[in-house]
Amino acid sequence: MPKIPHIGIVVGSTREGRFSERAAAWFHRIAARRTDLSVEIVDLRDYPMPFFDEPASPAWMPPKHHVAERWTAKLTLLDGLVFVTPEYNHGYSAVLKNALDYAFQQFNRKPAAFVGYGGVGAARAIEQLRMVAVELQMAPDPQVCERRHGRVPRHLAAGQGIRGFSASRTGGSRSAG
Ligand SMILES: Cc1cc2nc3c(=O)[nH]c(=O)nc-3n(C[C@H](O)[C@H](O)[C@H](O)COP(=O)(O)O)c2cc1C
Repeated sequence: MPKIPHIGIVVGSTREGRFSERAAAWFHRIAARRTDLSVEIVDLRDYPMPFFDEPASPAWMPPKHHVAERWTAKLTLLDGLVFVTPEYNHGYSAVLKNALDYAFQQFNRKPAAFVGYGGVGAARAIEQLRMVAVELQMAPDPQVCERRHGRVPRHLAAGQGIRGFSASRTGGSRSAG
């Protein structure tokens, strides 16, 4: 039987009381209906890495920190990633950036998709994430899933899978302010 792609759903906030775990669980429930891929929640709380403090970029040298070793080992097992991101001051979270900086080859040539929530569906955070994903040599989905003001986009409410979630464009949410 051919191997199906294994997708990691990264919980992009680690703070006490975070919403991200609820957004990730919500997305996981939808994605788990797919039979042509498998999904797993990857919680950054399980990878408490210090602020990046390695002698060189992971592009040139594997990180030495023991948690970062676990993080890169986990990434190696994933065929693609869905980043569930908050928006903090029009950017994404520092903890997510730190996790991204701790790996390089493990991201290369893998598809990346984004789920955002907040006032404008984390649109501005996702724009930044997409640029960083390109630098990590990922293949970011040009479309994103947004959850704004607690509303679920119609195509998601209808229970469509990952193909369906990508029907709303980041740029379309700007007017929400
Ligand atoms: C430091 C900080 C900055 C924020 N900046 C924004 C923002 O720029 N845009 C926005 O829509 N929400 C902003 N928010 C609200 C967050 O979207 C909201 O708190 C969300 O729950 C954060 O995600 P989390 O609970 O998973 O950490 C901000 C929240 C914090 C704590």
